[in-house]
Amino acid sequence: MTTRLNETDVPEWLRQRLLAAGGSVPFRTYMGWALHDPEHGAYGSGRLQIGRRGDFVTSPSLGPDFAALLAPQLAGWLAELAVEMGLDLEEAAGPKQAAKAGPRPLALVETGPGEGELALQLAQALAQGWPELAACCELVLVEPNGGMATRQRQRLQASPLPCRWLRAEALAQSPCTGVVLAHEVLDALAVERIRWDGRHWRQQRVTLSQEAGKPESLELIDGDSLGPQTEPVLESLGLWPPDPRRGPGWATELHPELAPWLASCAAGISRGRLLVIDYALSAERYYAPQRLDGTLIAYRQQEASGDPLRQPGSWDLTAHLCSDSLVQAARQGGWRLLGQRSQGEALLALGLAQRLHGLQTPVAGERLDLATALARRESLLRLVDPAGLGAFHWFAFTRDSTPTAPSGQGRPPSSLPPGPAPYPGSQPSGESPLPLFLRDP
Ligand SMILES: C[S@@+](CC[C@H](N)C(=O)[O-])C[C@H]1O[C@@H](n2cnc3c(N)ncnc32)[C@H](O)[C@@H]1O
Repeated sequence: MTTRLNETDVPEWLRQRLLAAGGSVPFRTYMGWALHDPEHGAYGSGRLQIGRRGDFVTSPSLGPDFAALLAPQLAGWLAELAVEMGLDLEEAAGPKQAAKAGPRPLALVETGPGEGELALQLAQALAQGWPELAACCELVLVEPNGGMATRQRQRLQASPLPCRWLRAEALAQSPCTGVVLAHEVLDALAVERIRWDGRHWRQQRVTLSQEAGKPESLELIDGDSLGPQTEPVLESLGLWPPDPRRGPGWATELHPELAPWLASCAAGISRGRLLVIDYALSAERYYAPQRLDGTLIAYRQQEASGDPLRQPGSWDLTAHLCSDSLVQAARQGGWRLLGQRSQGEALLALGLAQRLHGLQTPVAGERLDLATALARRESLLRLVDPAGLGAFHWFAFTRDSTPTAPSGQGRPPSSLPPGPAPYPGSQPSGESPLPLFLRDP
């Protein structure tokens, strides 16, 4: 029998953990447990569901348009890598190579694939649009949470590319050449909560509150003050020296798990690109004095809550990325920034407007029926809505020694395979057949 918890009840497993830890733990530890504990965590247990009928939607849950727009960018990078490796796509995709056992020479690595929907849509788009490239390519799924991996395995049975699930550590043992995609993953890394008490920055902790006459509940309390070793980090984010505009009680997040994540991602890739797509703010905006309480949000059943201590293990907990922290951690981890754009700009550069226009264009003499066309139009607009998914940011990094065109001049290599037939109405004559998001929209 399962017992339904009240909003404020402390689950027994968490109570025991907190007691064993001496009564309280840093918020970061709590967030890691609430999300990733294999038995009780929201992702670890596989309890969270992504999609319109699930706990929250991501861009691919709105339909195949997001993957279709992203695919040419990934194909472009994979083709560049093939050229850098001296891989002859025609020969590599031929029957002799296909008969060979073992991993394919190129990999599309998705970290945190959620339901597996985006990986499947991308595999299908690659196989359809760039068959030679796809024949040299495998899908590598990096998913630390067993509950999620089980559903991904089912979903990806339909994948036209071979799939492997690997832990980040295993990938580092035999790194591959390819493109890593981290879509809405880094916002699930546990963050450190800090609070200014008027004199010191303090690490926030989660504890059991046992007020007389009240049921036991969870509480965020101030822990030790941050030591002088944290000052350089705080300084780089504009949080040190103290600013009187941030009064006592002003709280925010730091992202200590970014650097190890990016280093481990770099260890799994001998040569390649990394595309991070997530909610992100520059340090100036993230730590603006008027943002009094950081960016943490909990999601469940399409509801958002500002209370990260509510029903631990049942809600997704997310914090925005700080773009300056991300870029700095990536650099330390061995990645070089190629460029960054808002999702709105990136998708427009990749042909979203032409795709919208194409909804009205008959294909083989037939128009989409009105209901389908309107639903597709709404999904496309949601992807670039500045108040929603359009506020996501795309960050492209490379891990190689070859010079790459600076942001604004990205171009596919001359050997790039031709790609899919143009989407109706999507390619005004004279335009590059392969738009890249780093090119100015
Ligand atoms: C919000 S979902 C993203 C789903 C998918 N990328 C999409 O766009 O629909 C977050 C995913 O990241 C996984 N995850 C969480 N922490 C991770 C980590 N440190 N490394 C890789 N994946 C992680 C979760 O288990 C989950 O599958």
